[in-house]
Amino acid sequence: MVPPSARSALLAAALGLGARRPLPRGRPAPLLLAPAARPRSGAAGGGVLRHLLLKLRATGPLTVAEYMREALTNPGQGYYTRRGGVGQDFVTAPEVSQVLGELIGIWYVSEWMAAGRPGAFQLVELGPGTGALTDDVLRVFKQLASLLSKCDVSIHLVEVSPKLSETQAQMLTGGKVQSNSEDEAAYMKGISKTGIPIYWYRGIQDVPQGYSFYLAHEFLDALPIHKFQRTEKGWREVLVDIDPEAPDQLRFVLSPSSTPATENFIQPEETRDHVEVCPEAGVLIQRLACRIEKDGGAALIADYGHDGTKTDTFRGFRNHKLHDVLVAPGTADLTADVDFSYLRKMAQGKIATLGPIKQREFLKNMGVDLRMQVLLQNSPDSATREQLLHSYDMLMNPEKMGDRFNFFALLPHRRLTHPHKEHDLHSKSPLPPVAGFGELLLK
Ligand SMILES: C[S@@+](CC[C@H](N)C(=O)[O-])C[C@H]1O[C@@H](n2cnc3c(N)ncnc32)[C@H](O)[C@@H]1O
Repeated sequence: MVPPSARSALLAAALGLGARRPLPRGRPAPLLLAPAARPRSGAAGGGVLRHLLLKLRATGPLTVAEYMREALTNPGQGYYTRRGGVGQDFVTAPEVSQVLGELIGIWYVSEWMAAGRPGAFQLVELGPGTGALTDDVLRVFKQLASLLSKCDVSIHLVEVSPKLSETQAQMLTGGKVQSNSEDEAAYMKGISKTGIPIYWYRGIQDVPQGYSFYLAHEFLDALPIHKFQRTEKGWREVLVDIDPEAPDQLRFVLSPSSTPATENFIQPEETRDHVEVCPEAGVLIQRLACRIEKDGGAALIADYGHDGTKTDTFRGFRNHKLHDVLVAPGTADLTADVDFSYLRKMAQGKIATLGPIKQREFLKNMGVDLRMQVLLQNSPDSATREQLLHSYDMLMNPEKMGDRFNFFALLPHRRLTHPHKEHDLHSKSPLPPVAGFGELLLK
């Protein structure tokens, strides 16, 4: 068990970390702009578009989920597979500030202590982008090495993009990695600059079972969604088809009748007229719930999203600007808000869920202000201090990432409602609160 004062000591111990690489400055923040009206811009020819046009001619309209999957992760031409995009087309919080990853690192150590300090844990990051977030978490683990010295820590990255896995390998290991043979679950492995083994996988199903902490930052919003429209004749699925007036362009159409997805994914009590559902996110949550229930650990999911209230959130970004989702697929990031109410439903009560709470509340509760103060005090020049203040504003300002991003946690029920097995059944001492979702007491 770890009393709140001990957990706040974690923050104090981690405060000694210095500023990492130079912080990016002055970038536009096209984070959660309302979807733009679709301009009738011409579709630039490209591998994914050509492939989709052939497919559409042969088999007819595609679901938005099939379209999104091809555009983002087509093995040869998909956006993530080929372009990568983080920093180029959109900016994410780990790229803005090291503080996010540091406080997330403290969250995991705090949960590890609350679980009675198991002898080993895996940190599993889904969709690690450039690897910056894991890098910052690892710096905290290094800073807290005396605490973790008897714990066998390993890193497991789930990444579908060969291009981004190279970037991650460079960031985390300095490029010292080796490819594995086809029959191994991990396609690549290496040792972090801080001496921790790292493995890369194509899917969560390949990651070994065991006590694990999962991290999904801006990952679920990149998974394919189905879109549905209520009509006078009942629910219809939004599909992607060739525009008959411009045979090299795409357009949205409605399915003429219900589809398997309208039958399976629309709840009878639904009140909205337009709904987006991400079944892959649902399957992922079910997998995480089974793993956490069986092996213990926790998951932190951070993303923009809503609690079952929003309607049309599907949008594209290219060069930091909104981009028509149907134009030049494969050249722009496509994304849709995460529906946290759906994730909660898919956990099926196997585990407890906390949140979603706003990023600025989570970071405040985790001690972001104190961390910033220390960084500012230790910054030698005014340019660095200005960058730190800029990054704080990006993370915390309600108009920027502060209110748009949410934190959501999955935990075993025993973490919240039952005493840990080492905990005296008759003890009156309360279970330690989960950091971030309640205040991290600072003494
Ligand atoms: C929007 S980026 C977020 C990157 C990083 N987490 C961040 O916040 O900076 C999405 C990441 O998920 C990866 N990705 C997208 N779809 C994936 C899938 N189906 N399986 C595994 N990785 C995927 C992308 O390649 C990329 O690394």
